[in-house]
Amino acid sequence: MVDVREAYSEAVSTGQYQMESRLLGKYDNVRVCWEDQTTRIFLRPYLESLLAEKKQDLERMRILDLGCGTGDGYYQLMTISTKDPGVCEHRINLISPEILGIYKGIDINGEMIAKARSVLTNEDKVVLCEGDFSGELPLEENEPPYDLYFTSYGTFSHLTDNQFVSLLADIARHSAKHALVVCDWIGRHSYEWQDLWAPELKADHTMDYVISYVHSRNLRRRKKLQSFPLRMMSRMEAENLIQLAARRSGTAIEIKKFFDRSIFVGRHMDTGDYNRNAQPIRRVVNSLHEANVRTDLAELIINYYPKQGFDFLNNFFEKMQMAWNTLVEHTINLLNAYNAESDTIEMELTPPPYMPEKLRTAINRMTRVVEGSAWLQAGDPRANIIEPQLGYTLRQLEMDMQQGQGTAHGLAAILEIKK
Ligand SMILES: C[S@@+](CC[C@H](N)C(=O)[O-])C[C@H]1O[C@@H](n2cnc3c(N)ncnc32)[C@H](O)[C@@H]1O
Repeated sequence: MVDVREAYSEAVSTGQYQMESRLLGKYDNVRVCWEDQTTRIFLRPYLESLLAEKKQDLERMRILDLGCGTGDGYYQLMTISTKDPGVCEHRINLISPEILGIYKGIDINGEMIAKARSVLTNEDKVVLCEGDFSGELPLEENEPPYDLYFTSYGTFSHLTDNQFVSLLADIARHSAKHALVVCDWIGRHSYEWQDLWAPELKADHTMDYVISYVHSRNLRRRKKLQSFPLRMMSRMEAENLIQLAARRSGTAIEIKKFFDRSIFVGRHMDTGDYNRNAQPIRRVVNSLHEANVRTDLAELIINYYPKQGFDFLNNFFEKMQMAWNTLVEHTINLLNAYNAESDTIEMELTPPPYMPEKLRTAINRMTRVVEGSAWLQAGDPRANIIEPQLGYTLRQLEMDMQQGQGTAHGLAAILEIKK
């Protein structure tokens, strides 16, 4: 006889039975739909060439994830898609399970490693170890080289400059004839910490970072949360450190790409902990991507406050703001001008010719989205098609306009070692 209570208790005990929302928390919509994806898209072309070589040599791909935390990097890398897969295809992962040789994750925190083990328990090519990479690679004796040395979400900001140079030199020495290194820091001049911008680039410049965004506003006010130092990195500083590591290891390290990730949607835009003028833009973008939830699009309009003495940065953020707001306003206008009875949009649809090409493309895309879906009766097209597409189009605009200078929450560098 089946006991119904037991069956439900069993389901609850798995931890998979609770309501999940991506409006808040570590795995919010911006992380899943913007940040993870931005890294995947920038990394893809370099990984594609590396994989082609591995296939040519009949070898499998070896990945080392430094500061792997709970092992999210495994999922992030294994779900990078091939470029522009056709809509009819359903197998689109660039790294197939067959081509993967090993994914090894290292973290200094034993609890993170334990959690990663419990999450990745069924993945037979995954190895997880406790280890400290501050200064050199924590490897076994004669451990074979890796093809991809990966970090994510600001992990290298835990290192001092000296530690980073030593580690990168060690990676360069350890790698075989061709390897990629993904370096990830927090950006020096993100708008979300504008109060901390300083005129001089002092070496080893850190901020006291608080993971306050995972707590409610009430708790944030009541409780003193723990902070830890994080190195805030700009492109110029990173380039110097990479050069030092190349010299120290006697190996050429080529910089393939710098990119900024999360310009107006960094997590601390919502807390305002480091910028008195920050607007909670991440919360609104999370709402754009949330199923069955409609968003007040006017809340997306950015009101950038320039900071005196930082013309170069103000110029960049103001351009970004103009493009962002123009796209949002265009979408608001499209929705207001849509006539459901005649299924037409009663406004001028062609963007003015003086706009930058990327912005014109974004505007045309949103026009087509509204034209193509506003008439649908089922499934709330505004909440479930138009708003997520506005989210993706804003993300694309960010990717097109970023300059890889350290002007966002995350600054990443893709490096290539060839011997
Ligand atoms: C920002 S988290 C990123 C975690 C994970 N990669 C992710 O995507 O969620 C940084 C991680 O680096 C780890 N870490 C910091 N310093 C370290 C060190 N010296 N050696 C090994 N791991 C370290 C931390 O424990 C933490 O899990």
